[in-house]
Amino acid sequence: MRLLITAGPTREYIDDVRYVSNASSGRMGYAIAEAALAAGWDVVLVSGPVDLAPPIGCEFHSVVTTDQMRDACLQLFPGCDGVIAAAAVSDYRPLQRITGKLSKTGGPITIEMIETDDVLAKLGHIKENRWVVGFALEAQNPRENALQKLRRKNCDWIVLNGPAAIGADTNDVELLAPSGDSVAHWTGTKRDIAADLIAWLARET
Ligand code: CTP
Ligand code: CA
Repeated sequence: MRLLITAGPTREYIDDVRYVSNASSGRMGYAIAEAALAAGWDVVLVSGPVDLAPPIGCEFHSVVTTDQMRDACLQLFPGCDGVIAAAAVSDYRPLQRITGKLSKTGGPITIEMIETDDVLAKLGHIKENRWVVGFALEAQNPRENALQKLRRKNCDWIVLNGPAAIGADTNDVELLAPSGDSVAHWTGTKRDIAADLIAWLARET
């Protein structure tokens, strides 16, 4: 089994020194990489900027922006059997990146933002016989929203978790199938959940 994993946040630059991002620690994705390596899988990890060391034994690709994550994943996915998209990808980026440094104007400023490409959706739509697992971070109507994402991005399963997951050491997740059924429920440290997810995928794929 050769597994592609996305992890961590992405950054979208406003100018050469400022960016828009989020508080993702990368811990969930890195824990999945470690669990998969422990299970004897080959692991290809595409990660945004985090404070974690790449797990020993994985093929590591460091990226910063969403476009870089997309390009790396599109290149690497065909050589893999499946993907787990644990990255907290920045949904928007400034329409224009200013060269140098934006100066203060003495008043409010407006930065026009546009949507980034959806990396997981792109992989879902080229998957062929590969399997695709997404994550969904939901605050309201969690099941309904997660299921919509699963279908829109052509995933085989989606891991549903709540906002408490961001930056935390523990998590509480449900695994949803395209039918809408909840096929697993795991709680514990991100390490425990990662091991449960890999054991489950080892059985079901
Ligand atoms: N994802 C991605 N590329 C993006 C946005 C999200 O690959 N540009 C992936 C994430 O890695 C995750 C899944 O899509 O596996 C769902 O991410 P989430 O933020 O929950 O959903 P979004 O589709 O971005 O919708 P929203 O944030 O509006 O709820
Ligand atoms: Ca999002």
